[in-house]
Amino acid sequence: MRTLISSKLFKLFLLFFITPLLLAACSQPQENSAELRLPVSINEVMASLINHSADPIWIAAWQEPQTDRDWRELEHLARQLQIGGSLLTIPGTGPVDKAWTDNEEWQGYSQQLSSAAARAVNAARSKDIELIGRAGDEIVTVCESCHIAFKPDLPTMNIYGELSPTASL
Ligand code: HEC
Repeated sequence: MRTLISSKLFKLFLLFFITPLLLAACSQPQENSAELRLPVSINEVMASLINHSADPIWIAAWQEPQTDRDWRELEHLARQLQIGGSLLTIPGTGPVDKAWTDNEEWQGYSQQLSSAAARAVNAARSKDIELIGRAGDEIVTVCESCHIAFKPDLPTMNIYGELSPTASL
């Protein structure tokens, strides 16, 4: 009898105290799943998105886009670079990604890249080759500054394609 009562009490205890606690624990947002992660490394973003979309902006400063279609393509690429800059603020699968994205200076360069690329978007929209050149120079300055700060051991020269004459490299 005694064990029956205590087992009943135990069940009640489970029902009223433990179960709500468990439910509360389950409904807490999981920290890991809330943390945003890119599916690839920042190095991959750099090679496949940043470098890829920046090149044609620099080239355009030398070889002016001819058709509406060319300008439109340039606008899309500049937009990709703008988005790419913002993606650099989110860590991916690379071993040092988190350390980079946690760094304030890194965040600053990423935002600057995004803003300079937004200016290239506007320049392409208004088909203004001088503004494209200016935005291209701003972009290369940000690439260069971030590389000097965060990857000084890797060579940076010759990866930028063609630069406009006023580029500060
Ligand atoms: C916020 C900092 C930052 C900015 C801005 C930045 N980079 Fe990088 N970039 C890096 C770092 C760090 C690496 C090295 C990544 C690694 O080794 O994992 C890198 C690597 C690269 C690589 C080498 C990728 C490879 O695997 O060969 C290229 C190419 C590159 N960046 C181009 C650019 C260009 C072009 C721009 C500007 C349009 C730019 N980067 C802007 C930080 C930056």
